[in-house]
Amino acid sequence: MSSEVRFIETRAARSLVAIRFSHVTKTYRLYKNDRARFAASFLPGVKYDEVKADNDLSFVIRRGESVAFLGHNGAGKSTALKIITGVTTPTEGTVEVHGRVSALLDLSAGFDPLLTGRENLILRARLWGYASSEIDELLPEITDFAEIGKFINQPMRTYSAGMKARLGFAFASSLRPDILILDEVLAVGDRRFSKKSLERMQEIMSRDGITLLFVTHSLSSAEKFCKRALVLDHGALAFDGPVHDGVSFYKKSVA
Ligand SMILES: Nc1ncnc2c1ncn2[C@@H]1O[C@H](COP(=O)(O)OP(=O)(O)OP(=O)(O)O)[C@@H](O)[C@H]1O
Ligand SMILES: [Mg+2]
Repeated sequence: MSSEVRFIETRAARSLVAIRFSHVTKTYRLYKNDRARFAASFLPGVKYDEVKADNDLSFVIRRGESVAFLGHNGAGKSTALKIITGVTTPTEGTVEVHGRVSALLDLSAGFDPLLTGRENLILRARLWGYASSEIDELLPEITDFAEIGKFINQPMRTYSAGMKARLGFAFASSLRPDILILDEVLAVGDRRFSKKSLERMQEIMSRDGITLLFVTHSLSSAEKFCKRALVLDHGALAFDGPVHDGVSFYKKSVA
């Protein structure tokens, strides 16, 4: 078995391909319980089941495309996106990622609850390679959008789920990525914030050359923001084509 993920640093603008999956499989081991999982780290022969979260996925996403990932719970959508962001690695197959990726996978993931909102933002921006002067410019934009107000200087453990989600969305969408990945994030926040998020999505989509990967169970949002859909079914690619056809295909498959 061999696998490889290549993050290609050249600006996406120079490449027509944003993402290429070639026969990508991700296998997770399912142990009976945590004890068995722990034992397996030093004992051979501990029994486990396997689940192929992604099964032999091959597709190419070109620069500037907007692609919806559709599929039932557990179909393997988040796993595919986690591979693209480097959160997890494939068991088999190769992945190429051209350009800078900004992802919002799990709304509160990556925030340290003990740090304040501001400290978390600075840390994330540094990880992104932003210089201090750029961070100074970026921060007010993010905090204004998130409408966190004075809470920005409070530890994030004191934030409500909606506040964390708003800060996460504001951060991911304020960066200037080549590839933006959003996994079920528009449903968060209250009505007013959802409306604002939609407007920002529209603004982002109008930027030249941006590639959007969008996981959603809202078929109308998929049709609104994406031209193409990939439908996953038990880890495998069941459909790849225009979003309207993808939505019909998915509706029929669950009917
Ligand atoms: N860390 C993990 N360990 C074991 N199994 C996992 C892990 N992460 C995901 N899985 C399994 O992989 C499969 C695919 O999960 P994934 O999160 O990619 O689905 P999804 O399409 O994003 O579903 P949803 O619509 O519910 O978000 C599921 O069967 C899930 O149980
Ligand atoms: Mg998911």
